[in-house]
Amino acid sequence: MISIARPLMGSEEEAAVLRVLASGQLAQGEEVAAFERDFAEMCGAREAIAVSTGTAALHLALLAHGVGPGDEVITTAFSFAATANVILLVGATPVFVDIERDTYNIDPTLVEAAITPRTKAIMPVHLYGKPSDMQRLEEIASAHGLSIIEDAAQAHGAKIGDRTIGGFGTACFSFYATKNMTTGEGGMLTTNDPVIAEKVRLLRNHGQQTRYYHTTIGYNFRMTNLQAAIGLVQLGKLEQFNEQRISNARFLTAHLKEALQTPIARPGYRHVYHQYTIRVLEQRDQWVARLHERGVGTGIHYPIPIYQQPFYRDSISQFRISLPRRAALGDMSDLRLPETEAAAMQVLSLPVHPALSENDLATVVKEVLALCN
Ligand SMILES: Cc1ncc(COP(=O)(O)O)c(C=O)c1O
Repeated sequence: MISIARPLMGSEEEAAVLRVLASGQLAQGEEVAAFERDFAEMCGAREAIAVSTGTAALHLALLAHGVGPGDEVITTAFSFAATANVILLVGATPVFVDIERDTYNIDPTLVEAAITPRTKAIMPVHLYGKPSDMQRLEEIASAHGLSIIEDAAQAHGAKIGDRTIGGFGTACFSFYATKNMTTGEGGMLTTNDPVIAEKVRLLRNHGQQTRYYHTTIGYNFRMTNLQAAIGLVQLGKLEQFNEQRISNARFLTAHLKEALQTPIARPGYRHVYHQYTIRVLEQRDQWVARLHERGVGTGIHYPIPIYQQPFYRDSISQFRISLPRRAALGDMSDLRLPETEAAAMQVLSLPVHPALSENDLATVVKEVLALCN
C-alpha cells in the first residue's frame, strides 16, 4: 500500500534521542532552547517558543493576545477541529466564514464583512501547506485593530515572496507525526512581539516566573528535550523534505491537471504540500474505495465542516457563549457556507510525502487517471 503519510526518521534522530537519554536531562532544557533558536531563524521570527502540541500553541497564542469570554475570532470551518476548539476553550466565540474555492483558505473579503465590535482576532489556516493571503489579512487586521493568529500547523517552510510563514506575526506550528517535520507530538509558536513571547513562556510553565514563584495561572505545555532533539535534526532536513514534496506535487500536477482540479499555488507563494489535494466532483467514496483496492492510500481533509461536527451542532450552549450572542450568531445548525460544504464533499488527498518512489508516483497517476475515464 502506498501510504498517505510516512514519518522519515533516520540514524541522526536515533543518535539525538540516545544522546539526550544519556545526558539524564529529559524534560525541557538545552535542546529545547536550541530548537527554539533554530526554528525562529528558519522563519525569520524574533522569538519561537516550543510547546507540547500545535493545539497548545494555538491555545496559548489566544490567551497571550488577550482573547477571552465575549470576544469573537473569525476563522475557517474547513480545518482540523483544533483550530476552532481552542477559541471555545478560552471562552471566546468562533465566527466561521467561507473559503476561497481554488485555495481552500479563508476568503479575506468575507473576513472583513464578518467584523463586529466584538471581533478580537482573525485566525487563518495555511491549509495543506499553502499560505493564506497574508497581505490582505494584514491590511484588514491593521485597519480594524485586530490580532492575527496564524494556524500554521501544516505550513513549515511555506513562503510568500521571500517571507517565511512564522515571520509575519504570531503563528502556531504542529510537529505531529504526519507533518512536514515531526517530533512525534509537539508544537511551536513564533512571534515578533517580545511581550507575547514572555506571556507564552509563562503560560506554558504554570505561570512560574522563577522556580515555585507563580505570577499567573498557566499550564504544563512544555516540550521535552527528547522531542526537541528530534526536532533539531528534522529541522535540518526540512528544506530537503519540502523540495521533495514540491517535486512530487509537480509530477502529479503535470499528469493530472488535464483530467481534474489539481492544487494551485498563487504566483510568488511557496506551497509546501503537506497535502496534495484534488477535487472529485462526484462519487468520492467510490474513488477512495477503488484507490484503496489498487494500493493507493488517500485522505479526506476534512470531511465535515467544523460547525457541522456533532459537538458544535448540538452542544455549543455548554460553552460560555452569552445567550444574546448565541441568538445573534444563530444556531450553528443553521450556518451554511457553500464553498466549505462543497469542499468537504469533494476533496481527496493523494500521497505526496518525500518517501514516495518514482514508481509510487507513477502508480498514483495511473490509478487516478483510470478513474477519470
Ligand atoms: C490545521 C491544524 N490545526 C491544528 C492542528 C493541531 O495540531 P496538534 O495535533 O499538534 O495539536 C493540526 C494538526 O493536527 C492541524 O492540521
